[in-house]
Amino acid sequence: MTTVRGVVLAVCCLLVGVAAVDPVVSAPTGSARTPPMGWNSWNAYGCDIDQQKIRAAADAIVAAGLRDVGYEYVNVDDCWQATTRDVWGNLRADPARFPDGMKALADYVHGKGLRFGIYATPGTRTCANLAGLYPGALGSLGHERQDAAVFAAWGVDYLKYDWCRAEVDGVEPRAGFTLMRDALDDTGRAVVYSIHRQPQLPVDSWRPSVANSWRTTGDIAPTWDSVTGIVDRQVGLEVWARPGAWNDPDMLEVGNGALTPDESRAHFSLWAVLSAPLLAGNRLDAMSEDTRRVLTNRDVVAVDQDWAGSQGYRVRDGGDVQVWVKPLSGGDRAVAVLNRGASTATTSVTAAEFGFPGGGGLTLRDLWSGVVSGAEGPVAVTVRPHAAVLYRVSARR
Ligand code: GAL
Repeated sequence: MTTVRGVVLAVCCLLVGVAAVDPVVSAPTGSARTPPMGWNSWNAYGCDIDQQKIRAAADAIVAAGLRDVGYEYVNVDDCWQATTRDVWGNLRADPARFPDGMKALADYVHGKGLRFGIYATPGTRTCANLAGLYPGALGSLGHERQDAAVFAAWGVDYLKYDWCRAEVDGVEPRAGFTLMRDALDDTGRAVVYSIHRQPQLPVDSWRPSVANSWRTTGDIAPTWDSVTGIVDRQVGLEVWARPGAWNDPDMLEVGNGALTPDESRAHFSLWAVLSAPLLAGNRLDAMSEDTRRVLTNRDVVAVDQDWAGSQGYRVRDGGDVQVWVKPLSGGDRAVAVLNRGASTATTSVTAAEFGFPGGGGLTLRDLWSGVVSGAEGPVAVTVRPHAAVLYRVSARR
């Protein structure tokens, strides 16, 4: 199975011109042909999780219409484990937080037409253990095959495998992440495999061959500085992304903390242009209508899920104003004009910056307002402070 996938992957890479990926390692276990979409518990709850909160998130994904636009994974992050393994060495859920166990929770999530994700680490301790936020030391080191088998038996569809200083346990990153990839593969279950190695940069060639996604930065926070700082660190990373293997600028903070509605829309716009996994990180059962509308904007989600040979890349870095372009299938371009500054900016964007170097008439659809306009030459774009305008641009035929 792996060999066939490897061949398919090699052909696919030749077709899209990605030559830099290490050819020795075979393809990862999950498919993730488009960036994974779903929800993860960490940004909303941190360590303070239990089965009721996860069930409530699954309920809300359905009730709020997120499932209908493609959100499917419900992922339990760190702090789900009992502080010791059982007598056979199996991981188990904290009986106080998850009294019905993980299999029952996965069944519940699957019963909603969704998929279930979980969190583990290649060393001996999870990041919350290391940070003193949660007792125990329950990394998968030495238990990789056993843990993968347990996850498969529970019905896990997505694994976030978080480095958490595994080097202190003598783990080498590529070997450690590959070990779990192989263990997952051998279960025969399609599991999306998401890795996070700290420090994150530079992305090395083995990552897209081992995992379906890999974090490119440290943890996001619900602030404008954090979001824009992460955007800065995505420049040039587009060379690594391809169907089945995605750069991960971290989970969404839409609707969290002090982010304003404009900032949330800008954050979501950029993540879509970056072909990022879209993992909501807010309380789905208590979100505002504005937040719900951001997360369920089908036009913006369609930009994220579209693949035409490249994730978006920066074509202008003008201080406060940046322009990012993502080629879309059928020849359209998604274009984000980002204003990081504290006052309204008006800037002229050329046809070449819109991704049409030959010029000609263009049709621009603003994906947040729905307004459609035409252009024959450069376009004056006005962007509010701490905001982005996101267009879908087509050549007028
Ligand atoms: C961090 C990770 C976060 C979260 C946390 C849990 O390393 O970046 O997303 O998973 O660990 O302890």
